[in-house]
Amino acid sequence: MTMLESSTNNANDDNRDLPSDSLNVLQLSDPHLFADPDGRLLGMHTLASLQRVIKDASKRLPSTDFTLVTGDLVHDASAAGYSLLKKELLHLNTPTYCLPGNHDDPKILNASISGNPIDTPFSIQKKNWSIILLDSNLPGSTKGHLDEKQLSRLQKTLSNHPNHHTLICLHHHTVPVKSKWLDTMILSNAEDFFSITDQHPQIKGVTCGHIHQAFEATRKNLLLLGSPSTCFQFTPESIDFDIDNKPPGYRQLTLLPNGTIITKVIRLKHFSNSIDMSSSGY
Ligand SMILES: [Fe+2]
Repeated sequence: MTMLESSTNNANDDNRDLPSDSLNVLQLSDPHLFADPDGRLLGMHTLASLQRVIKDASKRLPSTDFTLVTGDLVHDASAAGYSLLKKELLHLNTPTYCLPGNHDDPKILNASISGNPIDTPFSIQKKNWSIILLDSNLPGSTKGHLDEKQLSRLQKTLSNHPNHHTLICLHHHTVPVKSKWLDTMILSNAEDFFSITDQHPQIKGVTCGHIHQAFEATRKNLLLLGSPSTCFQFTPESIDFDIDNKPPGYRQLTLLPNGTIITKVIRLKHFSNSIDMSSSGY
């Protein structure tokens, strides 16, 4: 599979030639905001980086139908951080659906973000697509886990919408990305997840955050995707923690009425040189 990336700032990446009843989706991930608007992570001003990404995505993808934000919304699990995030996401002018990552607190997230247009639903149905947002947060751990409640809600939603093409979103990666240190933080019960997805051919794709890099693979006709972070990037296939010099980015997904997913990663033009590249972790 060819991995598509784009970094030309002047281009308009709307899919004007595709069927008009396609769904245009923007995926943002891992903004890692803080309660403090000037908060920095590895030297990077995470709020400023998110603002640059939102400005770029709004300009390049003006026909976005809705936005997905796949976890590590804040780095300090603070209500003030979620309020800050909500304020920034409103600039997208799209319905926006968020799910938690390992740095989030799902209870504080759900108490801080709910309603219209920024929400934390379990699933939404638009046109002939169903979008399912899973909570893979395992308290106290960087690993992911889908508990019985998540798995049964997944099973039930799939059974309720057998004729909807389906995109599943969660924070943790479900297959190894060949990065030794990141693969210790994978979804720990991926076999439970795939035992359900294997029964439902309407599922066309699974997209995650967490890995701070572009990723594409297939498993039994299922497209498995990972999105860059809106702040710093991790180096693909690294043995230990390693920061990549790629700029922040986001993923564009177009969901066609026939169940096809067309997707690519778009990055900002410039890399932030404020990042401490010598960091050995965070
Ligand atoms: Fe993250």
